[in-house]
Amino acid sequence: MQVIILPTPNDVAQYAANSVVDVVTENTNSILGLATGSTPIALYDELVSRCRAGLLSFKNTKTFNLDEYIGISECHEQSYRAFMNRHLFNLVDINSANTYVPLADSLDPEVLARNAKAYESEIERSGGIDLQILGIGVNGHIGFNEPTSSFASRTRIKTLSKSTVEANKRFFTKGEFQPHLAITMGIGTILESRAILLMATGKGKAQAVKDMIEGPLTSMCPASVLQQHKKSIVILDEEAASLLSLKEYYLWCEEKRQQLHEGNLL
Ligand code: F6R
Repeated sequence: MQVIILPTPNDVAQYAANSVVDVVTENTNSILGLATGSTPIALYDELVSRCRAGLLSFKNTKTFNLDEYIGISECHEQSYRAFMNRHLFNLVDINSANTYVPLADSLDPEVLARNAKAYESEIERSGGIDLQILGIGVNGHIGFNEPTSSFASRTRIKTLSKSTVEANKRFFTKGEFQPHLAITMGIGTILESRAILLMATGKGKAQAVKDMIEGPLTSMCPASVLQQHKKSIVILDEEAASLLSLKEYYLWCEEKRQQLHEGNLL
């Protein structure tokens, strides 16, 4: 796991944007895995700016989002489809037919299970994800894989934890129905991505970040599974990194990695 600690959330977004640009420009038909939530908004803003400045094109890119709520329609402002349209898809040159978000606008469990299976097949048919962007929940979840989710899980219906429902309350108006179910990519699905980039910012994420990087490999902290991925990069701001015991070591490693990159081995 590569741990990168940067001064501010904006630096985190810039670093993540550079990684996305690399993947999109290096692969003729790049496949990105995307996340919603507050954390990646600054990344999407940056990608939109670069696209508008002609520095980046999504014309040949396909995207797969991690998750979608069950119980609200795609047109609902808080659906993850609407979120992605608003923050990225409608603002860049991507072909909307190449943007996939799990189809969750049914209340029939069999239809939802079929949609989840079809999502897996679509990822596979596309050749797999080149770079998966992740955020992290305060309880260590990735996608909507809550604590105790199997590391082998595939895209499926998942019940959100009460703490996740509580954390996401801020997006819904008082008294409005708030979903407690979602279709989410599984941890096994996420792990098949060729590279994973997790972003975390703010003090509120510091404990989850510590558990993910320095805690034991445990389904009680689903993000700890990234310790086992061959190419996982975690980008943190100072606040999110504030509880790490080996913080100085991660900073030192990045300094040495940079020197190595410049051909300076000693
Ligand atoms: C959303 C998702 C979630 C979020 C996590 C953090 O697609 O997959 O795992 O990344 O809940 O959310 P924020 O960034 O709002 O703190």
